[in-house]
Amino acid sequence: MLTPNFPRTRLRRNRFDEATRRLVAEHKLATDDLIWPIFIREGGGPPAEIAAMPGVYRFGLEDLPRHVEEAARLGIPAIALFPVTPAERKDAEGAEALNPENLICRAARRLKAAFPQIALVGDVALDPYTDHGHDGVVRDGYVANDESVAVLCRQAVNQAEAGIDIIAPSDMMDGRVGALREALDAEGLIHTRIMSYAAKYASAFYGPFREAIGSQVALKGDKKTYQMNPANSDEALREVAMDIAEGADMVMVKPGLPYLDIIRRVKDGFGLPVFAYQVSGEYAMIEAAARNGWLDHDKAMMEALLCFKRAGCSGILTYHAVQAARLLRQG
Ligand code: PBG
Repeated sequence: MLTPNFPRTRLRRNRFDEATRRLVAEHKLATDDLIWPIFIREGGGPPAEIAAMPGVYRFGLEDLPRHVEEAARLGIPAIALFPVTPAERKDAEGAEALNPENLICRAARRLKAAFPQIALVGDVALDPYTDHGHDGVVRDGYVANDESVAVLCRQAVNQAEAGIDIIAPSDMMDGRVGALREALDAEGLIHTRIMSYAAKYASAFYGPFREAIGSQVALKGDKKTYQMNPANSDEALREVAMDIAEGADMVMVKPGLPYLDIIRRVKDGFGLPVFAYQVSGEYAMIEAAARNGWLDHDKAMMEALLCFKRAGCSGILTYHAVQAARLLRQG
């Protein structure tokens, strides 16, 4: 570090004009950094807007490629798929997660055929499929770890066989990354990547997402026995260390903006690709303020995304991916 020596040193010189500011910029957001999460429902027709996430829609499976076309044209490298499972297909065990004809598998096959260059991210957890809204199976009122992991392994193989490239376990069971790696390898799926939701917190910011996939209605209580306490930071490093030892290729921190300190610690501590999930509640806050005229939408959106890069992220899962990519293309 330079010792400030005013007036010889004036830090404002490097901010004097646009050209110099561009030259000294330390971080840059690119379309290559964006992963776009989308919600998929049965049927076709006009997309259904999600009330708490204005501008985000549940896309019908039948015309899915049409909804993804712009993202593909803009060069977004990856899309994360989330199903809106019809209530009559949910049960206590989340059996629909294992159905090779479930929404995710059919969507994966369609998207792979239409856009082979886009990497597909499959969320592995049972909450879109269980009638109680938990990420695993419940035994005596507790989400059973090892039994849930066994089901998640079958869910992951089911997704990978349908064309999912990156398995993203979001369940926070112990030991699931190692078990997933073994299960995938046993099926010869050695190239399927694992992006672990390594440090996933029990957060209030997931509210709009749970409305979007219909898992909130049923959810009794909370997910505090498996998702992390927002008070903890050292524990996140233990979670990440375990997932790396078990074979994670990339790790994720979730939510995003309130957890930038975790991202930085993980990046400095392990040096592997780290991703942030800028979650539904973060999206809702920016949209709500912008729609009230309280924030400049585009500036706030791009600043938040850039801050993830500064914190050490390789990329960001963001509902703003398409909007951001449009702006990046315009320069
Ligand atoms: C499912 C899952 C959740 C999110 C992603 N995967 C919700 C939860 O854990 O309850 C939240 C994403 C968002 O809020 O945008 N395990």
